[in-house]
Amino acid sequence: MENVYIMNHPLIQHKISMLRNKNTGTNEFRKLVEEIGILMGYEALRDLPVENVEVETPIETCMTPMISGKKLAVIPVLRAGLGMVNSILTLVPSAKVGHVGLYRDPVTHEPHEYYCKLPEAIDERISVIVDPMLAIGGSAEAAVDFVKKQGGKNIKFMCIIAAPEGLKRLHEAHPDVQIYCGHLDRELNDHAYICPGLGDAGDRIFGTM
Ligand code: URA
Repeated sequence: MENVYIMNHPLIQHKISMLRNKNTGTNEFRKLVEEIGILMGYEALRDLPVENVEVETPIETCMTPMISGKKLAVIPVLRAGLGMVNSILTLVPSAKVGHVGLYRDPVTHEPHEYYCKLPEAIDERISVIVDPMLAIGGSAEAAVDFVKKQGGKNIKFMCIIAAPEGLKRLHEAHPDVQIYCGHLDRELNDHAYICPGLGDAGDRIFGTM
């Protein structure tokens, strides 16, 4: 699938296996989510635009590339997406942070907005939407819808684990969005949890089990 990238890196796979383990505690889980986000972000941001600027080294003056354009926006889907914000900020400390707050209707599992705010001039920024779990795909689709409605054009979506159902839905709804997944899992169960998955990512990041 064009614009879909499944990360096949041993470091990412190893850390995802640790996340899956039900005995991994909150502190370690949170750190692993952040580390995986850094490894994935490194790859997802490899097409950031650069321009040559003049720099004086101790030896001579040279033209050397630096990231150009408006600062990128990292946009967590609340609440679990918050766990991946620092990953992007570690790589790009000057990035701005937007938020998309959606809750899933417990019966229909469809997303509803409750708090959404983006940095100004979103149309001039690369937007990186982050959510560790791409399950049904409804929240991811709604998050991209929202960013596009506000003018966002150059959008990437990063998740640690995807279900085939969610990946298909997001890609079909937004084929222009580059989707980065740490691992593609088997399926969703009847409660819309990813199998084998890692349980509820938000609860495990925030220790609210
Ligand atoms: N959200 C989660 O946190 N886990 C799942 O398995 C599905 C959605």
